[in-house]
Amino acid sequence: MSTAYVIVGASLAGAKAAETLRDEEFDGPVTLIGDETELPYERPPLSKDYLLGKAERDTIYVHPQAWYAEHGVDLRLGARVTGIDPAAHEVTLADGSRAGYAKLLLATGSTPRCLAVPGAESGGVRYLRRVGDSDRIKATFATADRVAVIGAGWIGLETAAAARAADVQVTILEAAELPLLRVLGREAAQVFADLHRDHGVDLRFGVQVAEITGSGGQADGVRLADGSHVAADAIIVGVGITPNVQLAEAADLETGNGIVTDARLRSSDPDIYAAGDVANAYHPLLGQHIRVEHWYNALHQPQAAARAMLGQDAAYDRVPYFYTDQYDLGMEYAGYVEPGGYEQVVFRGDVERREFIAFWLGGGRVLAGMNVNIWDVSDTIQAIVRGARTVDAARLANPDVPLEAFLGD
Ligand SMILES: Cc1cc2nc3c(=O)[nH]c(=O)nc-3n(C[C@H](O)[C@H](O)[C@H](O)COP(=O)(O)OP(=O)(O)OC[C@H]3O[C@@H](n4cnc5c(N)ncnc54)[C@H](O)[C@@H]3O)c2cc1C
Ligand SMILES: NC(=O)c1ccc[n+]([C@@H]2O[C@H](COP(=O)([O-])OP(=O)(O)OC[C@H]3O[C@@H](n4cnc5c(N)ncnc54)[C@H](O)[C@@H]3O)[C@@H](O)[C@H]2O)c1
Repeated sequence: MSTAYVIVGASLAGAKAAETLRDEEFDGPVTLIGDETELPYERPPLSKDYLLGKAERDTIYVHPQAWYAEHGVDLRLGARVTGIDPAAHEVTLADGSRAGYAKLLLATGSTPRCLAVPGAESGGVRYLRRVGDSDRIKATFATADRVAVIGAGWIGLETAAAARAADVQVTILEAAELPLLRVLGREAAQVFADLHRDHGVDLRFGVQVAEITGSGGQADGVRLADGSHVAADAIIVGVGITPNVQLAEAADLETGNGIVTDARLRSSDPDIYAAGDVANAYHPLLGQHIRVEHWYNALHQPQAAARAMLGQDAAYDRVPYFYTDQYDLGMEYAGYVEPGGYEQVVFRGDVERREFIAFWLGGGRVLAGMNVNIWDVSDTIQAIVRGARTVDAARLANPDVPLEAFLGD
């Protein structure tokens, strides 16, 4: 059997796993296979500084090109894995070649959900996942007067902020009653609705998109189910993603909202692991499986996976974390709350000025905290979530009581 460690998916999770294997002094062959032609890169800038034209392309790469050869990582770009044969310990590539493995990591990430309405295939309908998508949207902002954004999730809101910075008129069309409602709940979601309204975005909630209108194959607007029409030079769609589980499913691995793994990122096959957006991993702190679609998880989880592949005892139990930047609002969120899975939100600071911390409480404990335009507190918030101590809500809301007072022993 091959001694190689093979990683499928050459983005942040895949590149971090390769790096960790070498950091841990694994000296066998490491192969990193990705179907994009670009060096492994980070996606957050694609809807922020790179889209805004403030960051150059070479700032998005996980490692410079030379790093891979210097570390003996066989980086195969533009190469798609089409199948896994767990019994033979081999993967098959689109060109018909095969690569044997001792251990395999699936870091295949996710793919944007497509809008399923008439006209959705028209020119000018844009999704944002890859660097080329960001380039096309940036070019659109340079010429468009108005865009419609479908979905007020992370892609929709960050892209809307970038469009406003380019002086493009924006209408956001969201099915739910508020932006980010499933993640933040009503209380904190309102902050993001107010933020975008204050920057001149036309926000329409509770709407149903019926059709993308256009002529000559080119989109010119969105028809809603109530018959109204929103004219737009381009349409940006951010209606969520689906994890890329096709290889895992075809290989009969256990799947369900991603590739199901244990806390060491091991799938139902003992030699196949998963990490990043695609992994639905058991989280020891939360006592349940979760799949996280964020940068921090794709950065750290593959490090645990790589160590586990080397036989180390390396469960992944970091407090989930993500961040966003929109206009002059920067925020970090740490913790995990199922939609509607909290009893109370406690605000500490000045919500009107957007300088505050919000805490989500359940069973008297802090489940999650979000710092908005307040910095150097996320580590403490993560420690509070981890400590899981019962807290007094009134004291938590009082900025004169130091956050450290709520840490566990
Ligand atoms: C525009 C944008 C902005 C974001 N901003 C933030 C942010 O501000 N904060 C935050 O926390 N998170 C952010 N995220 C989310 C974060 O980028 C993702 O969680 C992260 O990219 C997941 O990394 P990954 O390596 O698991 O998967 P991916 O980045 O999806 O990479 C998977 C790779 O595997 C490849 N692949 C899939 N199948 C195969 C196959 N069969 N063969 C070969 N290759 C294959 C894919 O083409 C892709 O290159 C953002 C995402 C996007 C798209
Ligand atoms: N700052 C960040 O953490 C960040 C930034 C950008 C992207 N991302 C990641 O990128 C991925 C994609 O982001 P996203 O914004 O597409 O997904 P999302 O899940 O964050 O939001 C999707 C939004 O679209 C709405 N929606 C769904 N179907 C709709 C429809 N037919 N019409 C109108 N609204 C509809 C949903 O109610 C939801 O508000 C996610 O994994 C996200 O975590 C993260």
